[in-house]
Amino acid sequence: MKRMKRLFSFLEEEYRKKTRKSCALFQRASRYMVRGGSHSLRLWKPYPFFLTSASGSTVEDADGNRYIDYWQGHYANILGHNPELVRRKLLPYVKQGALHTGFEGSTQLELAEKIISRLEKTGLKIRFTTSGTLASTFAVMLAMGYTGRDFILKVGGGWHGSSPYLLKGVKYHPGRGFSLPDSAGLPEEFSQKIIITRFNDTEQLVDRFKKYGSKLACFILEPFIGVGGFLFSSREYLETARDLCDRYGVVLIFDEIISGFRFAATGLQKLYGISPDLSLFGKLIGGGQAVAAVVGRRKIMEACEKAGKEGRVLFEGGTFSAHEEYLRAGLVMIDYLEKNEEKVYPRIGQLAEELRRGIEKSFQAEGIRVVCTGRPNEVVGFSSFFMVNFPKKEFDYKYPEDVWNPDRSDVFLREEVLKLALLLQEVHVVHGGGCLSTAHTQEEIKRTIEAYAQVARTFKKFLKS
Ligand SMILES: Cc1ncc(COP(=O)(O)O)c(C=O)c1O
Repeated sequence: MKRMKRLFSFLEEEYRKKTRKSCALFQRASRYMVRGGSHSLRLWKPYPFFLTSASGSTVEDADGNRYIDYWQGHYANILGHNPELVRRKLLPYVKQGALHTGFEGSTQLELAEKIISRLEKTGLKIRFTTSGTLASTFAVMLAMGYTGRDFILKVGGGWHGSSPYLLKGVKYHPGRGFSLPDSAGLPEEFSQKIIITRFNDTEQLVDRFKKYGSKLACFILEPFIGVGGFLFSSREYLETARDLCDRYGVVLIFDEIISGFRFAATGLQKLYGISPDLSLFGKLIGGGQAVAAVVGRRKIMEACEKAGKEGRVLFEGGTFSAHEEYLRAGLVMIDYLEKNEEKVYPRIGQLAEELRRGIEKSFQAEGIRVVCTGRPNEVVGFSSFFMVNFPKKEFDYKYPEDVWNPDRSDVFLREEVLKLALLLQEVHVVHGGGCLSTAHTQEEIKRTIEAYAQVARTFKKFLKS
């Protein structure tokens, strides 16, 4: 631990030298904002750099440092930051006045048609809102209203935004795993009605349904779990989930806020050939603006219009829902991905594989065990994600516990030390990695691997000698 502390202190000192202006801005921000900002993932230790510009694969901070960025707007920016294509197409709308009006518009219809047609399923309806958190909240409310039940099944490590219904089993608690409520400010009974099951563990899923099936309104999961470790569901797991939900009358919700349009110009549901009852989309579908949506079977979606067993579900998208400018950006993005599907996904998937391999090799060369998660499986051809894990001993990464249990993986090294070490190499990552965009070049992948190799040498120097 002493060695780790020494390493972190060394990195912190170097980072402070490099980011003096950001430090001053952070001190000012801390006077007005809690912890100096609005999202904890952007507020790393000792303080975040402050952004001045972002373009394509890179971002620049207040001190003039330019970083290759693998965070890409919380994984929303598959075409890189501020893509010329979206900006160019938005310009005429902005010129003619694209600010908020509060009326229905035809762009909404076009985006609705586009998303539903890409899922190639009949009888679906969609409603837009402005964040993934709202979409997951509304989806759970729809499930409860439709079924007349109020228990929720979710997976340990699953993140669906700060929805009050889903803030349990998000973070790993040593000794208790993913079993605790993760937020204060919620009624005690909420927590008792949220049941946690292990991601990709079919046996445990069957047990949970045996015990709670008749009380459950919904089972919600990410078919590709994001913060839980960049792991894909097995086909068997999703098929079992579908069967069990049918058998017990439970609404199956796929949270595709990360996976939607990320692995192909559609959702993972289409690639797996498994249809959920409701699905959530966000991030990519806004083309860099605040758009999210709930899509689902007509009968369930209509619970927000007609009274279901528990009355009408008040799913109003919000003042800024279906904002004309936001939707226009989303439409440009989805349209581009649809037309360039053959080009986009294989390319970013191949570059990501090169990166995953290069990173693993760089650490191996220094005698440090590293496993990158995010690799595609037999269903998904290409994956643009990578998460760098430091396993304490050799094993296969299958569950979120493998990624977040500090007895299995060195979480502090991945989350805090690696982050700071890479910033000194002008590479920005979250959870040890991130995702690729079409703006990342082969040359940048090479530079990134060199950056990780440099970090591996520093780690060896401080931790092994
Ligand atoms: C899988 C998943 N669902 C839901 C959300 C919440 O979305 P938002 O941050 O737009 O509220 C996120 C955000 O990262 C997410 O990754």
